[in-house]
Amino acid sequence: MCGIVGYIGNKPAVDILLEGLTNLEYRGYDSAGVAVNVEGKVELYKAEGKLQNLKNIVQEKYEHISKSVIGIGHIRWATHGVPSVTNAHPHTCNCGKVAIVHNGIIENYKELRAKLEANGCTFRSQTDTETIAHLVASKYAQTKDLTEAVRIATKEIEGAYAIAVIHQDVKNTIVATRRNAPLVIGFGEGENFVASDVPALIQYTKKAMYLDDNQIVTLTPDSVKVIDENNNSIPLKIENLPWEPVALSKMGYKHFMLKEIHEQPDIVRNVLTGKLKNIDENISLSEVTLDKDKLKDLKRIQIVACGTSLHAALVGKYIIEELCGIPVDVEASSEYIYRTTITDENTLVIGVSQSGETADTITAIRQAKKKGSHILIVTNRPDSTMAREADSLVPVNAGIEVSVAATKSYMAQVISFYLLAIYMAEIKNSASKEELIKIKHELIVLPQKIEQILNHKSDIQKCAKAFSGHKDFIFIARGINYATALEGALKLKEISYINATGYSAGELKHGPIAMLDESMPVLSILMKGKVYEKILSNAEEAKARNAKLIAVTNSDDIKLDELFDSIIRVPDIEEILSPALAIVPLQLLAYYIAEFLGKDVDQPRNLAKSVTVE
Ligand code: AGP
Repeated sequence: MCGIVGYIGNKPAVDILLEGLTNLEYRGYDSAGVAVNVEGKVELYKAEGKLQNLKNIVQEKYEHISKSVIGIGHIRWATHGVPSVTNAHPHTCNCGKVAIVHNGIIENYKELRAKLEANGCTFRSQTDTETIAHLVASKYAQTKDLTEAVRIATKEIEGAYAIAVIHQDVKNTIVATRRNAPLVIGFGEGENFVASDVPALIQYTKKAMYLDDNQIVTLTPDSVKVIDENNNSIPLKIENLPWEPVALSKMGYKHFMLKEIHEQPDIVRNVLTGKLKNIDENISLSEVTLDKDKLKDLKRIQIVACGTSLHAALVGKYIIEELCGIPVDVEASSEYIYRTTITDENTLVIGVSQSGETADTITAIRQAKKKGSHILIVTNRPDSTMAREADSLVPVNAGIEVSVAATKSYMAQVISFYLLAIYMAEIKNSASKEELIKIKHELIVLPQKIEQILNHKSDIQKCAKAFSGHKDFIFIARGINYATALEGALKLKEISYINATGYSAGELKHGPIAMLDESMPVLSILMKGKVYEKILSNAEEAKARNAKLIAVTNSDDIKLDELFDSIIRVPDIEEILSPALAIVPLQLLAYYIAEFLGKDVDQPRNLAKSVTVE
């Protein structure tokens, strides 16, 4: 959600800004812009829509623009004001000397704007961001020091922000700061970088520092200075980034989403490495720092998450309740934060997030932390805000996920929940050794089973083609795969814009069945186990209403061929592990339908990879 890049050094800044913004495109955006300083003058270049539109504008004046060795760039995901060139960042003050890019939301921007207007500022855009440009300019007029101007300006700002600022009269400096929005500094030789995420700078440097809330960084080509809000100097904590630039390549796949779906067997192996060494040995989860006696005494667990991570949490609930006998509540973070939640030191609160930067989940875990709960974070970004606030951090090791539609991170989260549940069950002695050994064995062979699905994806492609003309879909399942139905439907609607809804199959006859006719396909997740026969009956009920039926199943019963119009067969698996397998054909089905429909698979409209505003 919005992306910032800043560069100061010895190379044409615009090249690095555009490359960096390209690598942040996955975050979701609807306009883009850069500000550079060419021969002592701040110049802005902006475009609505795809980054390519901005690149075309820059290309026309490249010889001129490339003279600048300092610049800030931005991709904007509209919050205040429509996507347009006027609302695109960077924004400037009235004299045009201050240029600023911003991620986040300024909550008191109306009051600030009224004050600034009363003092003679004229606003051009509908954005909250423009207030910061005017505010910094007015503080600079008093202090003649850009860092100080930013520092005192931010004291008046309420809300979330990561900002980067340049000033025409301070040619060799970028100042940046953050509060509740991520910002990372990259250290080079004779050049320095600032960005809202690592992909923007990983191809130039692996030396980085994450800024904390309210810290202010001043970058020149040869220096990086960090202070806190009270002007105290902060020592630099430079770390080596674990990411490889190759993570940002499609590796021959047409889309990142397809590549990431194919990475899943290796992701499962990665997550298990070092934790599940041998089926006879206990799971080792040194990341969980919750005292074992406290863990045994836990009265309840609450899991908070959003979107796909929420679906992984639902699988987690099922496994933990099954193996550990601890009641688990799963709630969307956005609901959790606006009601009276009952949580205390006997409650373990688990936050699940691919990005570790989702605003609602951050707020939820902060609220729970204040009430004394131990906070365990399951995230793909050990460098994120949530990870830094965790008491226990379970990194899911899925590597960087570029496609907005989460696939491999979901798989990694689900596998992490199996490990966590087995780990707790072994401490609590709440499940039989045989049961746990069976699950561990299934986890070890899971990657091969996923590979079998990937090797037969042409069947899924055929099914996608046959059903790509439908405008609505229903996904049904029961028990542990209810979450799979929700996630499969979410994948389809995210990238194809088809109205797909996941239902608990038993709920079909309590309302949704009214919608069924030949235009509404019903996809059943029909995995062998406790609820197999029940789902089969629910599918029959749908058939009786003329719905076209699809099944994802591990059953080889040939009678299914009579009932279902299309069957996607997956390898056999224990019911408790089946969500980790059944989701793969659903990810592929969504992918191929979107591809047949010619949709922008990796960057679906209106969506952002990292939702950093509430
Ligand atoms: C997944 O495909 C979605 N893009 C979205 O639902 C996502 O899972 C959600 O925004 C939560 O993000 P997080 O995992 O980074 O917290």
